[in-house]
Amino acid sequence: MFAGETQFLKGVVAMSGLPDADRPEVCFAGRSNVGKSTLINALTGRKAIARASNTPGRTQEINYFTLADRYLVDLPGYGYAKAPVDVVARWQALLKAYLQGRPTLRRAFVLIDARHGVKDVDEEILSLLDSAAVTFQAVLTKADKVKTADREKALDRTRAALSKHPAAFPELIVTSSETGHGIDVLRAVIASL
Ligand code: GTP
Ligand code: MG
Repeated sequence: MFAGETQFLKGVVAMSGLPDADRPEVCFAGRSNVGKSTLINALTGRKAIARASNTPGRTQEINYFTLADRYLVDLPGYGYAKAPVDVVARWQALLKAYLQGRPTLRRAFVLIDARHGVKDVDEEILSLLDSAAVTFQAVLTKADKVKTADREKALDRTRAALSKHPAAFPELIVTSSETGHGIDVLRAVIASL
């Protein structure tokens, strides 16, 4: 279902720009620099379909990718301290409108850096997803940067944080876009939705 079939459709800056809600979609949310764009590239087997970067705040639009009969949606990262206040406010409003107002959104994948766990800025998004009743699933990223022993601790901490959220899907997915760990698991989940 994945390789070779993905195409970039459009970057959206306002709700009015969203494509017709005519097929299921999943979105990727997470702190700036957590690895959303890189994960989409790994998932689709395309090196640079989603623009990844060392510079936090790189993705500033809601980017739509078509994948077979569904959409993959790369969201702008949140929690970037140096972003201008008005830009942050605009994106928070758009993010909120998107998460609350997209009837075809099947699941939100919330990416959490395996080294850092769930932060306060993540909690804000998780609460937003709770109130919008959008099922979300946590995806730990950059697992290659964490020693195996520390990974279990990170998982436990993340599970504890998620257990407070009614919209959380109970299973976490541990990934590394660097090694490919967990990418097939995530693919299978998306294909099943
Ligand atoms: P914004 O668009 O700013 O919100 O960032 P993003 O979440 O899309 O992050 P992006 O995919 O651009 O990745 C940020 C940095 O993390 C890049 O330098 C990536 O190469 C690196 N990175 C992403 N995933 C992994 C991973 O699994 N392992 C390692 N070691 N590095 C990763
Ligand atoms: Mg990005």
